[in-house]
Amino acid sequence: MALFWHLSFVLVWNFLGANAAVFTLQNRCPYTIWPATLPGSGKPVLVNGGFQLGAAQATTIAAPAGWSGRLWARTGCTFDQSGRGRCTTGDCGSVLQCNGAGGTPPVSLAEFTLNSPQDFYDVSLVDGYNLPISIDPSGGSGGCGAVHCVSDLNRACPPELAVAGESGVTVACKSACLAFNQPQYCCTGAFNSPQTCKPTNYSQIFKQACPTAYSYPFDDVTSTFTCTGANYLITFC
Ligand SMILES: *[C@@H]1O[C@H](CO)[C@@H](O)[C@H](O)[C@H]1NC(C)=O
Repeated sequence: MALFWHLSFVLVWNFLGANAAVFTLQNRCPYTIWPATLPGSGKPVLVNGGFQLGAAQATTIAAPAGWSGRLWARTGCTFDQSGRGRCTTGDCGSVLQCNGAGGTPPVSLAEFTLNSPQDFYDVSLVDGYNLPISIDPSGGSGGCGAVHCVSDLNRACPPELAVAGESGVTVACKSACLAFNQPQYCCTGAFNSPQTCKPTNYSQIFKQACPTAYSYPFDDVTSTFTCTGANYLITFC
């Protein structure tokens, strides 16, 4: 009987579409990371915006229908008992639970817009990169391409874009827009269209390392993916 009620609950729950998608976040880095989420305007904050995930651990997050937002991983964090502290990359205001605050770039981003009417998703390096990130849809229909950005871009990062950690090793790589704030890199001003904003010598470094991720703002053709009715595995490292 308990099983029956459980199955009924699951069926009704799915039928009502309360859960649009389940995100499974997996940490394949050989160190602890602190994943974070930021919802789009008017959407709910998932898992209070952030949590700790040890090496080789995974966790699932249910996203409601129509959710949009981004996920990333913070590295090199130290938090006290009350969840205050800071991170070397991706910090969201010195707190464990970002609760609607964004991450300080450069960070590798997984971006989602669910049920619109398909799910749209991508990996974005438009503001830069901190660690490898992949999106693997499962159980959906439509295109549902996997996005794998697994190259260690910190090692390929030009010195003028590199963010050095305490030991001097590169912990993140800025985009040229973030580093230089110039219109041809940020696709602003006279460069505010796909016709005028083209790949640059800097964006090409990102594109070469991660061919299916956004390397500059108008990189849509090779970087936007769609799927319907899927769940998503998001792998860090
Ligand atoms: C990219 O091009 C700019 C402008 O021509 C130049 O100053 C810079 O050294 C180049 N950087 C790399 C990494 O090729």
